[in-house]
Amino acid sequence: MNKFKRYTVTSALPYANGPVHIGHLAGVYVPADIYARYLRLKNQDVVFIGGSDEHGVPITLKARKEGVTPQQIVDRYHEIIKNSFKDFGISFDIYSRTSNKIHHQTASDFFTTLYNKGEFIEKTSMQFFDEAENQFLADRYIMGTCPKCGAEDAYGDQCEKCGSSLSAEELINPRSVISGNKPILKETKHWFLPLDKYESELKQWILKDHKDWKANVYGQCKSWLDSGLFPRAVTRDLDWGVKVPLEEAKDKVLYVWFDAPIGYISATRELTKDWEKYWKDKDTKLVHFIGKDNIVFHCIIFPSMLRHEGSYILPDNVPANEFLNLEGDKISTSRNWAVWLHEYLEEFPGQQDVLRYVLCSNAPETKDNDFTWKDFQTKNNSELVAIMGNFINRTMVLTHKYYNGIVPEPFKDTEYEKEIRSEIKRIKHSIEKNIENYKFREALKEVMNITRLGNKYLADTEPWKLIKTDEDRLKTVLYYSIQISAISAVLSEPFLPFTAEKLLKMLDIDKPEWDKAEDFDLIKSGHKLNSAELLFSLIEDDKIEIQIQKLLRSKEMNELEKKTVLPQKDTISYDDFIKQDIRISTILEAEKVPKADKLLKLLVDTGIDKRTIVSGIAKYYRPEEIIGKQVCVLVNLAPRNLRGIESNGMILMAEDKDGSLKFISPENACGNGSVIS
Ligand code: MF3
Ligand code: ZN
Repeated sequence: MNKFKRYTVTSALPYANGPVHIGHLAGVYVPADIYARYLRLKNQDVVFIGGSDEHGVPITLKARKEGVTPQQIVDRYHEIIKNSFKDFGISFDIYSRTSNKIHHQTASDFFTTLYNKGEFIEKTSMQFFDEAENQFLADRYIMGTCPKCGAEDAYGDQCEKCGSSLSAEELINPRSVISGNKPILKETKHWFLPLDKYESELKQWILKDHKDWKANVYGQCKSWLDSGLFPRAVTRDLDWGVKVPLEEAKDKVLYVWFDAPIGYISATRELTKDWEKYWKDKDTKLVHFIGKDNIVFHCIIFPSMLRHEGSYILPDNVPANEFLNLEGDKISTSRNWAVWLHEYLEEFPGQQDVLRYVLCSNAPETKDNDFTWKDFQTKNNSELVAIMGNFINRTMVLTHKYYNGIVPEPFKDTEYEKEIRSEIKRIKHSIEKNIENYKFREALKEVMNITRLGNKYLADTEPWKLIKTDEDRLKTVLYYSIQISAISAVLSEPFLPFTAEKLLKMLDIDKPEWDKAEDFDLIKSGHKLNSAELLFSLIEDDKIEIQIQKLLRSKEMNELEKKTVLPQKDTISYDDFIKQDIRISTILEAEKVPKADKLLKLLVDTGIDKRTIVSGIAKYYRPEEIIGKQVCVLVNLAPRNLRGIESNGMILMAEDKDGSLKFISPENACGNGSVIS
């Protein structure tokens, strides 16, 4: 790690069009935060950069849908996202946003530099245009019938019904999302980054020089490079975004994926006057933390921009993670299939570290992974509580009980203490190696091994017996246990910052440096500990059940949404229609039909007569609640025999999306026998 003088650590800028959930935390922000906190404990010069990505079409579409401005949308979510990160201890040196002026300036200048160097190619092409609105239509602004599955609400880039990716010209009957009008094709000019020209230098840089990148990242890059790169448009015909700094392109903005990564640079400029050393000095290590859907942008496109601008360094590594699923299903904002960070905190106040712990120990580092509430509970109860919490608590309680909380003087080390020293050294080294190689799950396992070792030590030495037999030994054991507690506070800090802080307060010491941790004298004999507090508490079944029920409700809502209205039936004539004799009738009696759990036997007054009708509504209505109710009855339906009962007519019912049946009743009381037509 000494190759570099300083570190620039970036984490993907989340789109400010919704709150953040556990997938964001697990994939990007927890690992990035662990890395940054670790470097700080190692006394390294590090800037940890974050911010909101506030441009892009989804934001303008959401604004339009809600009848507000895009700025109002991003203001709302920037605030929510920023607070969630703060609440979870994501220790950004700056959390900025791409609607800031400094960002517009930085991105605009970046474009100008590339433009002046003649890097871009200019191309005109035909694009959909809404004449009524006088506006070009981005892919997401065009809807039409999917050529693959026939769904009528496919977007110009993708059909959400069948998942095919599309191009706008393929849509059948394209229409403008803004006006509903049929768009025309109109010529427009755009600026392209010639990725095809950069192909061989990218192949050298990634495939040859960066075999050290994670397999999932390297693999994705390789497949992009193997299938050949094409020029990419970096301008768009939109009005929300960074204006293209060219006289002839006044109505155009930079493509969101051109401006957003420059946001890392703008944020650093905003943070410090000394920003250039973090971006332009070869001794700086630049690391981008992202999710797998961002790989091509951070490994191929942005590095090409940086290289050809000319004054910037390139990323040393891009440790992208795969995706986190939730209870076996893809996390989805539109289906409300997510654990939102702000909601988690309302339901588990003060338990940020539990979530950080579970997400890190389950992080999708090499493949997609699953978050389940049961696993969350198990990891809390049988790891955090039973291992770390338990050891710290026993150490604190014993020290208070035998020595009033004063750290005793150790007597003489035995082989056991020598073993402990060397095991801690090994653990510390392994944590370092794993963090430096972006293997945070492994590193966290080792963190837990510290207190696991402590528990074994207490179980083996039995200090509660030593108090009667060998007080010298007791003092040694407690001294070591207290040192192990302090060591675990330091080495767990990147992962569990709230817990570490609480623990340091209990031990009543300042945060020590990482490298002092193996010295076994973080706390001196004679030092007085504060009173013991529980670091973690058990999470009971009912808390977990509430979360599972909440997700089940989302699932039910989604099922309902999915059911579509049946298409219209074939046309009939008026004569066909009036053949049906439908009358207002009153239910006089109702009872269950024995051995038929769906059926009720009803006696109804049709105005014409009183007759028996058997109806399949027992699941939706109880007999006693419908007596006296007025309903519509098809009276000239041929009699039918149901369970040995002759049924003379049919009660008309509406079938709802979920399959339930509902009476159709006159708005006001109405004479029995009134004809419905
Ligand atoms: N907003 C993008 C996403 O959520 C990430 C942008 S990362 C940046 O997928 F580098 F472009 F900022
Ligand atoms: Zn489709």
